[in-house]
Amino acid sequence: MPESASRKGAGSTTAIVGVGNIGSALARHLVRGDEAVVLAAKDGSHAEALADELGPLARAASVEDAVAGADAVVFALWLDTIKELIPRLGDLLEDEVVIDPSNPIAFDEKGQTMRTLPERQSAGSVVAALLPPGAQYVKAFGTLGAGALAAGANREPRRAVLFYATDDDGAVTTIERLIRVSGFDPLKVGGVADAGRIEAPGGDLHQFGLNGQLVDLDQARAAVAAERPP
Ligand SMILES: NC(=O)c1ccc[n+]([C@@H]2O[C@H](COP(=O)([O-])OP(=O)(O)OC[C@H]3O[C@@H](n4cnc5c(N)ncnc54)[C@H](OP(=O)(O)O)[C@@H]3O)[C@@H](O)[C@H]2O)c1
Repeated sequence: MPESASRKGAGSTTAIVGVGNIGSALARHLVRGDEAVVLAAKDGSHAEALADELGPLARAASVEDAVAGADAVVFALWLDTIKELIPRLGDLLEDEVVIDPSNPIAFDEKGQTMRTLPERQSAGSVVAALLPPGAQYVKAFGTLGAGALAAGANREPRRAVLFYATDDDGAVTTIERLIRVSGFDPLKVGGVADAGRIEAPGGDLHQFGLNGQLVDLDQARAAVAAERPP
């Protein structure tokens, strides 16, 4: 059995596949909060460099070993990459909490953002539908711009909220723990059907739908309860 596989269930290890803007910010927060992380990227040297920077709680692995050895996996990847990767990983995702920060977004040649899915189809609904039946899907960690995610942890006097959406009650404990360890307060907006509310472009509860603001728990609860714009 590979060393990574033997660690499954033995403690909490979070795999982060993708160590770009979102994956590296999240890895830094989790390690600062004493969470073990295993990092993977397309170019393994990028994962190794971040693991070296983060010290003993972080290690680098191949994508397959990272996923196999973890209790939860964050796909800090572009939506098209996630769509390619999930079928390749197949059974490795059974029984895992799969956390997806992706937004249905791309940039045109002028650097302008454009939507890559039809209006009202969320990236969350696309990714959740690709997973094996035993995987527990959560939309989370993509509700802030990467700079705000990196800078917004452990805010005082009141922590900022990270929203999440899931249909799996069994994933709630895991995602709420990881959000708290990262230095934020968690708030569930609903199930996968509500994932579009926390995606950009267009989500009313994404940072860009909240005028760029980071909100505390009271503000976040009021925003979730507010009537959704048409
Ligand atoms: N950037 C933001 O402000 C922001 C905010 C909210 C949500 N999001 C969402 O978060 C996701 C990641 O965005 P990002 O800005 O962090 O992207 P990014 O900086 O471009 O990083 C992408 C990462 O994906 C890795 N990767 C690409 N193909 C791979 C493969 N086949 N296997 C394993 N790893 C692979 C890359 O590996 P290498 O390092 O080897 O190239 C890189 O580490 C996107 O879905 C985006 O919509 C982004």
